[in-house]
Amino acid sequence: MSEIVITKSPPLCGNIICSGSKNAALPILAATILTKGKNIIQNVPRLTDTENMLEILTALGGVCNININTVEVDFTDCREYSASYELMNTFRGSFFLAAPILSRMGRARISMPGGCPIGNRPIDLHLKGFAAMGAEIENGHGYVDLYCEKLKGAKIYLDFPSVGATENLIMAAVMAEGETIIENAAAEPEITDLANFLIKQGAKIHGAGSDTIKIFGVKCLEPVTYSVISDRIEAGTFMSAFAITGGHGKIENVNPVHLKPVTAKLREMGAYVDEHRNYINIDASKKLSSANIKTLPFPGFPTDMQAQFSALLCETEGSGIIVETVFENRFLHIGELNRMGANIRIDGRSSYIEGNKHLSGANVCAMDLRGGASLVLAGLCADGETRITGANHIKRGYENLCGKLRSIGANIFLE
Ligand code: UD1
Repeated sequence: MSEIVITKSPPLCGNIICSGSKNAALPILAATILTKGKNIIQNVPRLTDTENMLEILTALGGVCNININTVEVDFTDCREYSASYELMNTFRGSFFLAAPILSRMGRARISMPGGCPIGNRPIDLHLKGFAAMGAEIENGHGYVDLYCEKLKGAKIYLDFPSVGATENLIMAAVMAEGETIIENAAAEPEITDLANFLIKQGAKIHGAGSDTIKIFGVKCLEPVTYSVISDRIEAGTFMSAFAITGGHGKIENVNPVHLKPVTAKLREMGAYVDEHRNYINIDASKKLSSANIKTLPFPGFPTDMQAQFSALLCETEGSGIIVETVFENRFLHIGELNRMGANIRIDGRSSYIEGNKHLSGANVCAMDLRGGASLVLAGLCADGETRITGANHIKRGYENLCGKLRSIGANIFLE
C-alpha cells in the first residue's frame, strides 16, 4: 500500500495544469454503450476510477484503446448485460451503467452500491425514475435487475437534485419512446457535459444545467469525438493549496464559471483571484481570514470541496463553521486533521473550526477521496513530516497529484 509523504512546503508558486473531470468522464464513458460504433473521448483523466470503468466496458463487449488521455471505445457489439460484482463494486460510478445497458440490451444487472464511508448513498431516485419509464425492477443477492423491452418517456420529479440520478435518467431517456421531463434535476457542469456529448451524437436534450431537462427520444446515436471538461474539483484543490501555503500562481485548463462558488469564498477570505477564459490567477500571500460555508447542489458551494476548506480554515484568522447539507457523514477527515493539531468540533452536520492553528505533521489515514486531499493540504503547511496512508483513495480522483504539486514547489512524494 503506497503512502504519501509530505514535509512543510514553502508558499507554492508557479503554473499548474488541470486534468479532465473525473465526474464528467465516468458517465460519458458509460454512455458510449448507447452507440453502435467507435467514440473517441479526449481529456480523460488517468485515474483508478476511469481505469475501472474501462475494464467494465471491456467486460461488457466494448473495445477500448487508451492513448494517454484519449480513449477510443467501440461498442459495435454489446455482449453482456452485467459485469462481475468484483469489477462493479470498485467504485460507485458503476451505477451509471444501469441506464445505458438497459437501453441497449433491454436488461441490466448492476451490483447494488454498498454503503460508502461518506454516507448511505441510496439509489432510490434512480430506480423510481426507471420505473416511471416502464422498467421492471428486482432486487436480490446484492444486485438490481432491470428489464424493459423499450423505455418510455415520462415526467419525473426528483425529491433531491441528485447528480447520478439526473445523469442516469438522461441516458435512459435519449433513446426512449417519446418525451421525458426531469424536474428538480441537478445542474452540475458534469451533467451539462454529458448532455453536450449526447447532443453531439444526435440526442435531443434541452435545459441541461437548469432544474428542468426535456429529452425527446431519438432512434439512434452516432459516434463522435468529444473532449471532457476540466476538473473543477481538482482546480479548487489547487486553489486551496496555494491558499493554505500563502502562495500565488496560475491554474490552467479550467473553466472559471464552474469555480464561481469556490472563487467567491476565497475572495471573501481575502485571496486575490483573477479569472480568464481558461485559466485563473490566485494570490494568497496576504493572511486569509476565516469564513462560514454551507455545501449545496450546484451552483452552491460543492460538497466535494468541503474537506479541503476544512483544512484551509485551520490556518486562517478567526473561526469558521462548515455545514454539510449534501451527505450525512462527510466528516471522516476531521479526526485526522485534529491529530495534526487542528481544533475542530463536529455537531450533527456542522463542523466548528478554530483558525490560526499551527498544524504539525503526523501519521494520518485518508478514508475517502476528498478527505485524503484535505490531509495533503494540511501536510503542506504542517511542521515536520506528514505520512498519509490510504493513498489509493486519493489516486481514485487526482491524476499525478504529487508530481503536479511538486512542480509548484511542494515537498510531496508517493512512496
Ligand atoms: C456525485 C459525484 C460526487 C459528488 C456528488 C454531489 C460522481 C461520480 N460523483 O455523486 O463526487 O459529491 O455528486 O455533488 O459524479 N441520494 C438519494 N437517493 C438517490 C441518489 C442520491 O437519497 O437515489 C442522496 C445521496 O444520499 C446524497 C445526495 O442525494 O445525500 C446527493 O447525492 P448525488 O447527487 O446522487 O451524488 P452522486 O451522484 O452519488
